This record gives sequence, structure tokens and C-alpha cells, in this order.
Amino acid sequence: MSKPLAPLGRFDGKVVLVTGAASGIGAATVERIAREGGTLLCADLQADAVRASAKRAVELGASAEAIVSDVSDPVQVAASVAACIDHFGRIDVLCNIAGILRFDHTHEMPLADWNQIIGVNLTGTFLMCQAALPHLLETRGNIVNTSSTSALKGLPYAAAYGASKAGVLALTAAIATEYGRKGVRANAVCPGSITTPMTSQPSFPEGANMRLVMRHSPLDEFRGPETVASLIAFLASDDAVHINGEHVRVDGASLS
Ligand SMILES: NC(=O)c1ccc[n+]([C@@H]2O[C@H](COP(=O)([O-])OP(=O)(O)OC[C@H]3O[C@@H](n4cnc5c(N)ncnc54)[C@H](O)[C@@H]3O)[C@@H](O)[C@H]2O)c1
Repeated sequence: MSKPLAPLGRFDGKVVLVTGAASGIGAATVERIAREGGTLLCADLQADAVRASAKRAVELGASAEAIVSDVSDPVQVAASVAACIDHFGRIDVLCNIAGILRFDHTHEMPLADWNQIIGVNLTGTFLMCQAALPHLLETRGNIVNTSSTSALKGLPYAAAYGASKAGVLALTAAIATEYGRKGVRANAVCPGSITTPMTSQPSFPEGANMRLVMRHSPLDEFRGPETVASLIAFLASDDAVHINGEHVRVDGASLS
């Protein structure tokens, strides 16, 4: 009989800062990295849930701390990075997973909604990268950002969301080119339809053509958040040491 496989331990000795860690893909990523030996700083807006996520990582044998932090606020972003350094002394990996989604007819979308979606998904990702980069340069670490298939093919009623996620791809490519020679990698994941609280009860505007939505996100293509966490863990690990500036779809080929 063959022996059970030993755990990979790809994150032994590595400190990983995860935003959006309280729920869905972020919580699944925390669990995946904890199982692979990583130390975690879990950041999110949701206080109880982010503490629960860190507790789960500790139960799995990891060192983990939680911080309540809004990625769209530069002061709170600085506090997250400082907390990671205070607790663990370094940052090897930054996983930017926090995000929000709201549907509306583009011609009716309030400017405040546009600004909030761009502010969290794109500016929040930028702020986290900016604050973590000095530490990642020290550790020759890497960044995994969360884009979406909506950056690659039009998701109707989600213009701000798709624009924010396309911006994340350009931001990731710029960082990869700018810092690659200095030993810091940056990559992005583009999930398709993933079953999480974000997608469990979508609220579409009156008059939305659901056939257009289904063409982008067919109901039978939904998968669990662990399908994205495994890709994030791969890109964040040394297995992906020669992958930089790439984005990878994780959507079961539903866009093809
Ligand atoms: N679920 C999908 O189908 C899907 C598809 C493509 C991309 N994504 C992206 O994956 C990421 C995770 O989404 P999910 O599906 O797990 O959703 P989710 O709602 O389960 O998790 C998002 C997390 O981000 C946190 N968050 C929101 N705003 C924040 C802020 N300002 N500061 C800090 N934390 C904040 C939330 O509290 C939540 O815990 C998002 O960036 C999302 O856009 C999701």
C-alpha cells in the first residue's frame, strides 16, 4: 500500500498577508496557506469573521493574527502592513483578495457606487501593493492580485466592477515589470463564477436581461472558493518562481 502524501509545506517559514480573509476566496486561501505551513496576517472589514478565519488557521497549526482594516483607506492599509511586521517581522507574500461587486445599468449607476467599487477593488489593491512593496523587496517576495473574468469579457450591469478588475491586471503587469529584476513577482488570478457570499444572492437592476448575464456566468459553471485558493497558493509559492506578470483564468473554460 502506498504511503499517504506528505504535506507540501510550500509556505514553511513564509509570512503571508491576506486581504478579504474573512470570507469566500480569502478565507479559503487562509486555510490553504495554513495547511501548507504559512504564517498569516488576516485582514478584512468584518471583525468577527476575520478573527474566526485566523482562529481556523491556528487550529490547523499555523501562526495567525487578525486585523480589522479597510483596504480603501491608506491609514488602515499602513496599519495592516505594520501589524504584519510587528507580529511576524517580515512579509513574503501579499494576497489582495478583498473586493466588492454591485450590479446596475451603466447609465443609471450613481457616481458614488462607481467610486466605491474602484476605491476598494482597484485603489485598495494599489494601496496594499504600495505599502507592502518595501518589505517584499527585502524578502524577494511576491504579490497575487485578484482580478476576474469580467476584466476579459463584458459582464453586463457590472461596468465599474469589470473596469476595476481590468485595472488590477494593468497594475499587476506594471509591478511585475518594474520590480521583477529586483526579485519581486506579481501575478493575478481571474476567477469565473465562484460560490461565495458575493455571488449567493446577486441583486440585479430592474429590467436586467438575465440571458446576457448567464452567457457570461452560466449557473452550471459555479465552483467552490478552494478552486481559486489552490491557484493563488501555487502562484504565491516557489513553484511559480519563474512566473511573473501573468494572469490565469480559473473558470472551467466558461469564457472559451
Ligand atoms: N465569487 C466570484 O464569483 C468571483 C469571481 C471573480 C472574482 N472574484 C473576486 O474574488 C475576491 C473575493 O471575493 P469572494 O467571492 O470571496 O467574495 P466575499 O464577499 O465572500 O469576500 C470578499 C471579502 O472582502 C472583504 N472586503 C470588502 N470590502 C473590503 C474593504 N474595503 N476592506 C477590506 N476587506 C473588504 C469582505 O468583508 C469579504 O470578507 C473579490 O476581489 C472578488 O471580486 C470573485
